[in-house]
Amino acid sequence: MKRTHHCAQLKEADIGAAVSLSGWVDSIRDHGGIIFIDLRDRKGVSQVKFDPIGSPELSARASQLKPESVISVAGKVVPRPEGTVNPALPTGAVEIEASVLEVLNLSETPPFPLDDAGGDKVNEDLRLTYRYLDLRRPKMRKNLEVRHRTAKSIRDYFDSQDFIEVETPALFKSTPEGAREYLVPSRIHAGQFYALSQSPQQFKQILMVAGVERYFQIARCFRDEDLRADRQMEFTQVDVEASFVDREDIYTLFEGMLKKIWADVLGTEIPTPFPRMQYIDAMNRYGVDKPDLRFGIELKDFSETFRASSFKVFQGTVASGGAVKALNAKGLADMTQGELKALEEIAKSLGAKGLAFIKVEGGEWKSPIVKFLSEAEKSALQATLEVADGDMVFFAAAPWEKACAILGRIRLEAALLLQKRGKLTLRPDDWKFLWVVNFPLMTYDEEQKSYVATHHPFTAPVPEDAALIDTDPKAVRGQHYDIVLNGMELGGGSIRIHQPALQKKIFEEVLKIPADIVENRFGYMLRAFTYGAPPHGGIAFGLDRIAALLCGTTSIRDVIAFPKTQKGQDLMAGSPTPVTARQLKELHIATVAVEPPLA
Ligand code: AMO
Ligand code: AMP
Repeated sequence: MKRTHHCAQLKEADIGAAVSLSGWVDSIRDHGGIIFIDLRDRKGVSQVKFDPIGSPELSARASQLKPESVISVAGKVVPRPEGTVNPALPTGAVEIEASVLEVLNLSETPPFPLDDAGGDKVNEDLRLTYRYLDLRRPKMRKNLEVRHRTAKSIRDYFDSQDFIEVETPALFKSTPEGAREYLVPSRIHAGQFYALSQSPQQFKQILMVAGVERYFQIARCFRDEDLRADRQMEFTQVDVEASFVDREDIYTLFEGMLKKIWADVLGTEIPTPFPRMQYIDAMNRYGVDKPDLRFGIELKDFSETFRASSFKVFQGTVASGGAVKALNAKGLADMTQGELKALEEIAKSLGAKGLAFIKVEGGEWKSPIVKFLSEAEKSALQATLEVADGDMVFFAAAPWEKACAILGRIRLEAALLLQKRGKLTLRPDDWKFLWVVNFPLMTYDEEQKSYVATHHPFTAPVPEDAALIDTDPKAVRGQHYDIVLNGMELGGGSIRIHQPALQKKIFEEVLKIPADIVENRFGYMLRAFTYGAPPHGGIAFGLDRIAALLCGTTSIRDVIAFPKTQKGQDLMAGSPTPVTARQLKELHIATVAVEPPLA
């Protein structure tokens, strides 16, 4: 039997037509001998009726079916009897009066309900173990479609902008400067390893030297990182590089890309250009380099206010070069003890010594620290934070970066608590795009006692700051930009260094990588640059993150067909696994046996 229609296709206009449908039994109901099956395929559902009066054998067979069995039916499209029309379904005005039933395969009872609401309630590990069933849910199927539309829109956009897609190797060499990598042993070269590519960064720069000028790739990347909702060990980048461009060209090009994606996938017009914010302002005002601009609750600096305070915690922090920052979570004075304790724990996990607060109730400032505050200090707080009844003010006193990070997190937690109380609404479709620009080129790493590249070592300095590289590296801003949407970093990139001498200097003199290691790891790149490297720059977006936001979810696992769990496992196929002693021998590998190799 050949399918003539999809289940979601049949409408009143089809009444009288002879059709055949194939799909899965979504649900089955027995109404006094008349069997109703909701038949589902990838497009939707149609109701199929088996009436024992017409053919008792057929309805007897239908009544034996269990959900998720695969069937084909043929029959006639008829109007549903009055009172049984379902306006919520596109096919709700009609049903199929079945005259043929072919059972293609039976199904065991699924371990969890496959409707959206039911499936959302079950443990994610169970969904991942039976991912093929999870992906049958309408929501998950829609997510895969959104991801496909997104990738298609991106390819069309770059094609229209005269870019070509070039594939670069997944098997690359180890460059331990970046994130932790996956190593792949070489069978042919005993004791030597490839590393799975963390990003096509070096290859795409080489493609610019090769004269490609406009490259893009939807590229799989691999990083051995701790997994989170927005991080997988294996993820997909929309990776782009172009020659003879400056930052303005990049902003325009990618605003165009995002505008097209949102129009193609959601039919939503997003206004461009996007606002831009200096890194330093993002940190000072929001405590992070990826601020969620859907709400205010900005951080304010009170270091000067407390420079000579009699509250020693604040005064001492300022005296030792740190900052005192505060925010006003308006309307959060009704926090419970438990909620306050939880916020304190979060602050402490970020290295805070405590989380001073002032609760304003009945015109009174209630706080363990209020007795230490002078009238002048109180009125400075009052004026800047516009303190009113019902407010909750939080403080962080710490080295500047830490104080920002602590209050930045408290700001997000406060927003969630306000949302819980109905005092703030954070809509996932309130699209607040932002460019964050002018990051510091280098950050001093206290542990390593040396400078590390904030983004990666190929980022060019802001031209005005280039002279500071020798005298004050941490004051040099990089031509690096991040694109942020509703608190998530969607992408980041930079204008690159294309002069071999400057690149060598950054490696050797600023990052202090010994010359022989530079030669070993990056020698080929430096050499390539001596053969006419054009000025170039680019960016990479997380495709998984874009798709997740378009689907209204914050977990990229929801838009990846077969993601790994938080612990890096594939629960369906079952990986990782031990391997055989023979495989290890062939690869010249000896393991410190936690589990013995397979026989
Ligand atoms: P970066 O390391 O910032 O830059 O990565 C670019 C974007 O890739 C996404 N991303 C991830 N998504 C899911 N899981 C992960 N583990 C993960 N890691 C990164 C993020 C991020 O913004 N080569 C440079 C780009 C360039 O300079 O052109 C790079 O890889 O959305
Ligand atoms: P203490 O005098 O140390 O008991 O602190 C008084 C209040 O200030 C308590 O509520 C602490 O949680 C808080 N506190 C202590 N150190 C800091 C800090 N560095 N930043 C913000 N609050 C702090």
